[in-house]
Amino acid sequence: MNLDFSQLVPYIPFILEGIWATLKFVSVSIVVGFILGTLLALCKITKLPFLKGFADAYTSIFRGTPLILQLMIIYFAVPQLTGYDISAFLSAILAFGLNSSAYVSEIIRAGIMAVDRGQTEAAEALGIPYKPMMINIILPQALKNILPALMNEFITLTKESAIVSVIGYLDLMRRAQIVGSDIYRNFEPLLFAGLIYWVIVFILTQIGNVVERRLRHSD
Ligand code: ARG
Repeated sequence: MNLDFSQLVPYIPFILEGIWATLKFVSVSIVVGFILGTLLALCKITKLPFLKGFADAYTSIFRGTPLILQLMIIYFAVPQLTGYDISAFLSAILAFGLNSSAYVSEIIRAGIMAVDRGQTEAAEALGIPYKPMMINIILPQALKNILPALMNEFITLTKESAIVSVIGYLDLMRRAQIVGSDIYRNFEPLLFAGLIYWVIVFILTQIGNVVERRLRHSD
């Protein structure tokens, strides 16, 4: 065993900058995925066959192919068709946002189905139109049921974010790799990056627990 962290020290600020780089695109992707996922979930529960068919096909494609492939198609293959280069940052947001929306749509769909049918019937009996019924009655109840699953999705996305290193985006993972080849020592930077990922996920989990407890309190 020859661990030597002293060589890592000068590179620590460089690796730490990766935290921001990672969190920046992950947080945007989470928002994109959540908004698109909610819309897709609504498409799935409508009686309109076209919308339902579209949402089902979308989910099937994005869950049925590897995220790394989707990312590489957006970054490397799309410019070939369009003639325009796309930045690594934008590619990452698109790939992660689109991918996550497929997972989120299933989570939300299940959450909506789990809300008692009587809630919809009562709202309809009171003459409340579809949109306010969904926004004020059904979705808030669904959200409470799905919070743990949603939190899980955000954590998955945070960890999967490490694959953006394949398109050269300077995230935490890529920076650890670069430092590894710079100092000819891989264990120390990778261990350091692993520790940071773990801390981020730990904090996310704690936030999830707090929000969950708050929501249960309001019952
Ligand atoms: N490793 C899986 C894949 O490549 C993860 C996909 C992302 N998962 C998610 N819940 N958004 O397909």
